[in-house]
Amino acid sequence: MDTMDVNANSVNDSEKYDSIEGFYATNAILVTGATGFVGKSILEKLIRVCPRIAAIFLLIRPKRGQTLEQRFKKLLDDPIYDSVKKKNPSILSKIHPVKGDVSLPDLGLSPKDRIMLVENVNVVFHLAATVRFNEPLNVAVNVNTKGTARVIELCKELKHAISVVYVSTAYSNAYLSEIEEKIYTTCLEPSAVIDICEGGNKTFIDQLKEKVLKTYPNTYTFTKNLAEQIISSNSDSLPVAIVRPSIIGASQEEPCPGWLNNVYGVTGVFLQIGKGVLKVMTAKRDVKLDVVPVDYVVDMTICAAWHVTLHRDNKPKVYNCTSNAPPITLIQLKQMYIECSRDVPMNDVLSYPYCAVVSNRLIYSVLNIFLHVLPAFIMDIFLILRGKKSITHEWIFHRCNITEMTMKVKTLKDSDIVKLDMRDMNWKKYVTNYQMGIKKFILKENSESVKSARRSSLLYWAYLVTQVFGVVALSATIALFITYF
Ligand SMILES: NC(=O)c1ccc[n+]([C@@H]2O[C@H](COP(=O)([O-])OP(=O)(O)OC[C@H]3O[C@@H](n4cnc5c(N)ncnc54)[C@H](OP(=O)(O)O)[C@@H]3O)[C@@H](O)[C@H]2O)c1
Repeated sequence: MDTMDVNANSVNDSEKYDSIEGFYATNAILVTGATGFVGKSILEKLIRVCPRIAAIFLLIRPKRGQTLEQRFKKLLDDPIYDSVKKKNPSILSKIHPVKGDVSLPDLGLSPKDRIMLVENVNVVFHLAATVRFNEPLNVAVNVNTKGTARVIELCKELKHAISVVYVSTAYSNAYLSEIEEKIYTTCLEPSAVIDICEGGNKTFIDQLKEKVLKTYPNTYTFTKNLAEQIISSNSDSLPVAIVRPSIIGASQEEPCPGWLNNVYGVTGVFLQIGKGVLKVMTAKRDVKLDVVPVDYVVDMTICAAWHVTLHRDNKPKVYNCTSNAPPITLIQLKQMYIECSRDVPMNDVLSYPYCAVVSNRLIYSVLNIFLHVLPAFIMDIFLILRGKKSITHEWIFHRCNITEMTMKVKTLKDSDIVKLDMRDMNWKKYVTNYQMGIKKFILKENSESVKSARRSSLLYWAYLVTQVFGVVALSATIALFITYF
């Protein structure tokens, strides 16, 4: 890509500080991870509310036989961009794909592209990551930890950097129960972990993984923690924000209610319940879930870039991007979802949606065999196994930096273009839209289908018969047991 004058329009200083739109006007942005759930949403928001942005560079890797250009076209063909494309078609000319891969030396950038980024980019959003919990340690370290180190190296070279935002996770220190907005160290130095993983000795890597998993629930959260530490020790010269979202759910309002595009986390569980596949989960019954709709995460991330530039510390500022909505337990959320999935059923459900939550491992194991393992012989075993995770933890997240930022944003001229406060969250409405979103964006179904409603009512009767049969069978077993023993 040729050198370009992205800073052509001028914006006065007060505009930069008085509004979010003014802050982004004339700035050039680099986004990694733009083809993912959060990255796509950030791109959509930026082009919708910041029309004077100078340029947006998207670091995208070729994948599965698709070239950079094909992937870029596919990204912009996503219907979530339709409305902004209609309103402001010229904005598309400001978006530029750049071939890169965070797992490769020098981010896999061509020397020419690197120079172009170094000359032009002002704000960086680094989101690219492997979010698979069980990724082999060396792969997760290379993408999430070393990949972040490579991005920070580039950021340090930028000639006109004004802020860098790293999207981490609220669970980067999941072994703690109370999590402050600060960077925690590990007993293993990030450089030592990288050295072992790059050494390629399988025995050493396995031993390391075994040690790591004694403290961390998975390789994902551990490698995100290491990335935070790398940023902390390598970013003296840069204003850096580390945004830590908890569980990111479908959008509440923007770009439309219920928007989503991956099936991880809550979405995966909802999908399995709605399809009638997941029937039992093991969890502490009153455990609260920290779910944040993706549009809040986007707004907090966009505002963090502004906030950290204006209120610069000599160390990265951490923002626990967690919920301050009325608390909701797993059981409440699950129950709301079950009701929605019965009211607006998915097509081709396998059975009537219900799902028990049990805290006792023994009861869970028995139910799991009857409800999941046996039917799994005729169903997709993969979906079943995912339901085995036990949810028992709850965390207290400090939110001082988020709160301070929220207060400062309220004083801006265009504070209404972002939502940072979830206190008026209506969970029932949110879950209803979530179900619509799963049907529309994941399953590509019509929201109302007579066929699925008819099938659902048949399944309801099958469900009732099974319940009655279950009660009779259980009573008979107990009676036999009492009679003979
Ligand atoms: N979703 C959540 O609940 C959640 C919660 C907390 C934090 N986060 C954080 O939010 C960020 C975005 O997550 P997400 O939910 O949007 O995940 P996602 O949908 O899986 O997207 C991941 C993005 O990273 C890119 N990527 C992966 N490996 C790459 C590589 N080697 N080089 C370049 N790009 C690469 C992917 O590109 P391809 O399309 O090429 O694969 C994709 O664009 C991550 O940093 C994650 O840790 C997510």
